[in-house]
Amino acid sequence: MQELKAIEVSAHEIKKASTNHDIFDIIKNRWSARAFAQRPIAKKSLEALIEAASWSPSSMNEQPWRYMLAINGTEEFDKMVRCLTPGNQIWAQHAAVMILSTAEMHHSNGHANAYAFYDTGAANQTLLIQAAGMGILGHLMGGFDSEKTVNEFNIPDSQKAVVFIALGYPTEPDQLPEPFKTREMAPRSRKPLEEIVTFL
Ligand SMILES: Cc1cc2nc3c(=O)[nH]c(=O)nc-3n(C[C@H](O)[C@H](O)[C@H](O)COP(=O)(O)O)c2cc1C
Repeated sequence: MQELKAIEVSAHEIKKASTNHDIFDIIKNRWSARAFAQRPIAKKSLEALIEAASWSPSSMNEQPWRYMLAINGTEEFDKMVRCLTPGNQIWAQHAAVMILSTAEMHHSNGHANAYAFYDTGAANQTLLIQAAGMGILGHLMGGFDSEKTVNEFNIPDSQKAVVFIALGYPTEPDQLPEPFKTREMAPRSRKPLEEIVTFL
């Protein structure tokens, strides 16, 4: 059994979800960080994250999720950063790893897979939860240039780009420019249960 590592950034205690019920720590400790330490993520850890993602449920077990990973310091990483919106580039350029998450939009029988995005989102969340348990935080980004991404990374017609994911070990937010620094220290919030659930 893998030991769960706490995220050792004191200022980020405020980011831990404050819940009314007894929710597992691994869920409470996942959040979308923007301040990343200059610490690489081992290849084995990256493989573990993708393997965790692969154990997500999917419609007809089609597993439509596909991933491209690039390590900070490589040309491929910079290429991914350049696909992001300017606001995302500011902080995401300091991530240890950038992931491009795409979805295979067709079943193996050739029919359109209406659940491809849904399933890929589920896999991404599994990846983020596994990462949180390993002391690594990920930040999903829908803010990117789709056309540029498809061209730069030769995404086949059968696939769609879903999100980029910036990954890294968290650090104190001192290095972040505003407004990101303030956001990095603000508590997280959620809609009350009454707004999202109906017990029939
Ligand atoms: C599909 C999707 C797209 C997102 N795109 C961006 C983005 O482009 N830039 C960004 O800073 N955050 C982005 N986020 C992160 C959300 O803003 C974040 O998950 C939300 O505010 C809740 O915060 P938490 O993840 O820390 O709980 C995105 C999240 C999702 C699920």
